[in-house]
Amino acid sequence: MSDKKETSKATTNSAWGGRFSEQTDAFVEAFTASVQFDQRMYRQDIAGSRAHAKMLNKIAVLSDDDLNVILEGLDKVEQEISSGNFNWSIAREDVHMNIEARLTELVGDAGKRLHTGRSRNDQVATDIRLYLREQIDFINDEIKRLQQGMLDIAEREAATIMPGFTHLQVAQPVTFGHHIMAWHAMMKRDVSRFVDCQQRMNESPLGAAALAGTSYPIDREFTAKELGFTAPTQNSLDSVSDRDFAIEFCSSAAILLVHLSRMSEELVIWSSAQFDFIELPDRFCTGSSIMPQKKNPDVPELVRGKTGRINGNLISLLTLMKSQPLAYNKDNQEDKEPLFDTVDTVLGCLRAFADMVPAIICKHDNMYKAAKQGFSTATDLADYLVRKNLPFRDAHEVVGKAVAMGVSTGKDLSELTLEELQQFSDKIEDDVFDVLTLEGSVEARNHVGGTAPEQVRKAIALARK
Ligand code: ARG
Repeated sequence: MSDKKETSKATTNSAWGGRFSEQTDAFVEAFTASVQFDQRMYRQDIAGSRAHAKMLNKIAVLSDDDLNVILEGLDKVEQEISSGNFNWSIAREDVHMNIEARLTELVGDAGKRLHTGRSRNDQVATDIRLYLREQIDFINDEIKRLQQGMLDIAEREAATIMPGFTHLQVAQPVTFGHHIMAWHAMMKRDVSRFVDCQQRMNESPLGAAALAGTSYPIDREFTAKELGFTAPTQNSLDSVSDRDFAIEFCSSAAILLVHLSRMSEELVIWSSAQFDFIELPDRFCTGSSIMPQKKNPDVPELVRGKTGRINGNLISLLTLMKSQPLAYNKDNQEDKEPLFDTVDTVLGCLRAFADMVPAIICKHDNMYKAAKQGFSTATDLADYLVRKNLPFRDAHEVVGKAVAMGVSTGKDLSELTLEELQQFSDKIEDDVFDVLTLEGSVEARNHVGGTAPEQVRKAIALARK
């Protein structure tokens, strides 16, 4: 008995060893550790410790000497980590205890005083918020770089005619610039979702301690301000418990990736031999080890595929949070890997897209030819008849018949003769050919949000402001 006690005393974790009579099982130690992945928040963790130490000093819980020693020690720890000279230890479980233990090795008792009035529960809630807040800036910068590329290509292709689709069937002619500006509009909303989520998460949980707050007269406004938060959070239980801000982030990321997957799908289709609307530069493609002729649009395909894991990460976090009782539960340690994977994946996909989109090579003739197929100006003919006082439903019927003739003779509407067209309505005159051209069709849609080149240029100018 006494033998066992001696061994266990020597080896239990020093952060809580007092209460324990045997060593943590080696597998359990590794199983419960998070340092392998949460070490990426070391800068945030150290920033939180600096703010906390300064606050403890301000309320006279920590002496000036201790504060100075702690701040110097934290600088040293940060420098060790950033230069790769830090010995991360599984036995010290997570980023918080690794840093605190190293600090104590360096500065002695002052290091042990740092954890006064706080808990890893408010520490980790603070770290994740600080980390995400910063990553959202990087993500939004990258979306904006992608948007710049979109504006450049949209400007170049403002008058380029291509078929617009519904049901992936040719519908009406549109301009390629207009299509790209649709992508731009999706990205604009994505940025605003991230900004919104960043603002909502920007409150300081520090001071919530384990769950109930602390008996020290802490100054939570001070630490919030030190860390650039707008204010302290208002409820300690909620502060250490909820990860809704991470869920919101992952849901904004999922929507962004769904957008990127749609663009990817279009790039894949357009670069096929069947469509042949665009070419992606070789540097964004790969070949086949067996089929010498192949040039595969791997980058958009992979982004489309990565959407699966981003959506999965959102589901992971929703499921992780579901039914958790207040306040902190160890379950929440599982928030980090899906979250970090989301950040990394989103940044990678955005980087690939921002590099690739401005380099898209348009095959104007093929787009134009494709827009001429599929009777894309049929609606224009109907609108023409309406302007000549035919009710729209009757006009629809007339044009339907003209299209049927085109189908059976293999001709586009603009290729039917005036006599042929006049069989279907005597209101058709020789000015009809103005509206049956692709150029006439796109130019006619000259209103806010329409596909006319003039409107595309206006939309670009507005977006550039
Ligand atoms: N590694 C933990 C996490 O990621 C930190 C908080 C641990 N708190 C606790 N009471 N065990 O959530």
